[in-house]
Amino acid sequence: MLKEDYILMGGVKIPKLGLGTWQMSENEAEEATLNALKLGYRQIDTAGAYGNEAGVGRGIKRYGARREEIFITTKIQAEIKTAEGAAEAIENSLRLLDTDYIDLMLIHAPMPWDEICYRKPRPSHRYEKENIAVWKVMEKYLESGKLRAIGVSNFEIHDILNIIENTSIKPAVNQVRCYIGHTPRKAIDFAKEQGIIIQAYSPNATGRLLSDETANRLAKKYGVTVPQLAIKYDLQLGTQPLPKTTNALHMEENCKLNFDISADDMQILESLGTVDLVREK
Ligand SMILES: NC(=O)c1ccc[n+]([C@@H]2O[C@H](COP(=O)([O-])OP(=O)(O)OC[C@H]3O[C@@H](n4cnc5c(N)ncnc54)[C@H](OP(=O)(O)O)[C@@H]3O)[C@@H](O)[C@H]2O)c1
Repeated sequence: MLKEDYILMGGVKIPKLGLGTWQMSENEAEEATLNALKLGYRQIDTAGAYGNEAGVGRGIKRYGARREEIFITTKIQAEIKTAEGAAEAIENSLRLLDTDYIDLMLIHAPMPWDEICYRKPRPSHRYEKENIAVWKVMEKYLESGKLRAIGVSNFEIHDILNIIENTSIKPAVNQVRCYIGHTPRKAIDFAKEQGIIIQAYSPNATGRLLSDETANRLAKKYGVTVPQLAIKYDLQLGTQPLPKTTNALHMEENCKLNFDISADDMQILESLGTVDLVREK
């Protein structure tokens, strides 16, 4: 599993399994990155907003692999919606990660988090012009080689079409929440039509899936743990999961996925109702 890749549009390979680092301190991210790389993980997912890019960078340096063996995903903060801000954020990520290039840079969300989370109903202003301005800067960095691939996160179909229709390069990925109890079927189908890879965030619903009755019953049936079932579920959907753990034993467990979920059980899991999720801010 750890050696398998998807191929992004543009030809860049992305490891099928990555380690998430949301809610890790710099030091935790450093240790988790080092432990994950020792186990054979090759992709680490971080973000400007996580405040731990420097830790991820140190973990990679301590491991000592050649840079091209590791895939780093990071994100421009959801609140940054200007060209100048985007360039500054990319330079900051390069500096904090202590790297000459980033493998995948995403716009963290189509609008600032407080507007996504707290304002109801959702504002009609969806930052179309601002996201185009940010995207165009990302395109320039892609051309310069400082970014190898560019994508989006938490984008709805409308937000992606806005980028596709008004810029030169299509997003290579859309990173969205995708777990047993929350399967974004429309986003998955749209991405497939467009050749976009879905990165599945919060595969364990930020830990809440572990106590879900159906997930536990099916995990038992396959002789696996709930996180293993959850990660395999995302992979069988054709998405690229990013489980987060600071525990090296859990990291090891999460890549032992030598089983297949039957089509009937995939249906059961897809039809499960919402498991509550703590939202990232
Ligand atoms: N783009 C976005 O807006 C966005 C939003 C949310 C998340 N993400 C990305 O997706 C990543 C994952 O999502 P998430 O952080 O919400 O968490 P998650 O991966 O859904 O769940 C993490 C929880 O599962 C536990 N866990 C993991 N493997 C386990 C195992 N084998 N056995 C028992 N417990 C296990 C972890 O505890 P232990 O640490 O104790 O193992 C932790 O409590 C994030 O870290 C981030 O990189 C992106």
